[in-house]
Amino acid sequence: MSAGARLRIGVLGCADIAWRRTLPSWRHQPLVEVSAVASRTLERARRFTDRFGGAPVEGYEELLARDDVDAVYVPLPPELHVEWTLRALAAGKHVLCEKPFATSLADAQKAVALARERGLLLMEGFMFLHHSQHARVRRLVADGLIGEVQLFFAEFGIPLRPAPQPGGAPARASTLPEVAAYPLRAAQLFLGPGLRVAGAQERPAGAHGPSPAGSALLVAPDGRAAQLAYGVEHAYLSGYGLWGSEGRLRLERAFSTPDDLTPVLRVERGGEVSEIALDRDRHFTNMAGVFARAALHGEDFAPHTEAILEHARLVDEVDRAALH
Ligand SMILES: NC(=O)c1ccc[n+]([C@@H]2O[C@H](COP(=O)([O-])OP(=O)(O)OC[C@H]3O[C@@H](n4cnc5c(N)ncnc54)[C@H](OP(=O)(O)O)[C@@H]3O)[C@@H](O)[C@H]2O)c1
Repeated sequence: MSAGARLRIGVLGCADIAWRRTLPSWRHQPLVEVSAVASRTLERARRFTDRFGGAPVEGYEELLARDDVDAVYVPLPPELHVEWTLRALAAGKHVLCEKPFATSLADAQKAVALARERGLLLMEGFMFLHHSQHARVRRLVADGLIGEVQLFFAEFGIPLRPAPQPGGAPARASTLPEVAAYPLRAAQLFLGPGLRVAGAQERPAGAHGPSPAGSALLVAPDGRAAQLAYGVEHAYLSGYGLWGSEGRLRLERAFSTPDDLTPVLRVERGGEVSEIALDRDRHFTNMAGVFARAALHGEDFAPHTEAILEHARLVDEVDRAALH
């Protein structure tokens, strides 16, 4: 791959998240370019390519057949992720797929097996992992900021009424697995792999549609716990905390952090409250860089697929444990 090469990415579906966050963020990432955008309707694809560049394409299969697409970004509704990932891998494309990648461990295993067989990169789009604030929090904790960590807690909840889609079309409402993904992934970041599910709960479907709320209690191999809550009919909440032997900390807007927000870590220790300003960062831009570097330079793809499998295993276990 020549110096200055860019990964040419095709987008499958004109999703709200692609319009609002992902594609605008790529303007700041020199390693990627939008080479094509596919939609079920050409008009919607054109609306995207007028703003972000690339060729408008009617039909997802048509995009996968193109020679000017090295990789695809899949921001489709979750139930379509695995199907279109398998098709993209079969067409020889690397895949960056929105979270939650799979709705079952078996599906995740099938896609990972194909990616490995074809020597292609498959990565789940957990953008928040690529914000430097979490590495900073982990360093502060490792340096003893709150003593020995005893408990991790995290919440992600959004209101019922989604904003209209690009073009004014009514938006698809997010589902519980889409919001649960953040606290579940964050627990793995702070407590490590091998989490087990001690208990879980999911409120049954209600007046507004599918299950609106859930929670889970996880236990790490070393016995530390994570308490998680998530929902789609909630006042907005997106944060996590750690409770240690000598203090506790809390970070708000931790998962959907805007690029221009200076994150503030709130620390309580010995009766004193302090605030630590963390660096601003562009997590969507960084994620695209990680994806492109791996694909362009043939880095080890294994950590990305192992992360997908570990997350899908945990999701499966939470689903099986959930009381309704
Ligand atoms: N990383 C984040 O911060 C973040 C935030 C929000 C959502 N997400 C994830 O991103 C993914 C997309 O979410 P979104 O809310 O942006 O989706 P969305 O606006 O509902 O868009 C999904 C797109 O999929 C295409 N599509 C194909 N078949 C469809 C069908 N049967 N029903 C609806 N759409 C269909 C449509 O594109 P065409 O009409 O153009 O074909 C549609 O625009 C989800 O996995 C979600 O969890 C991530």
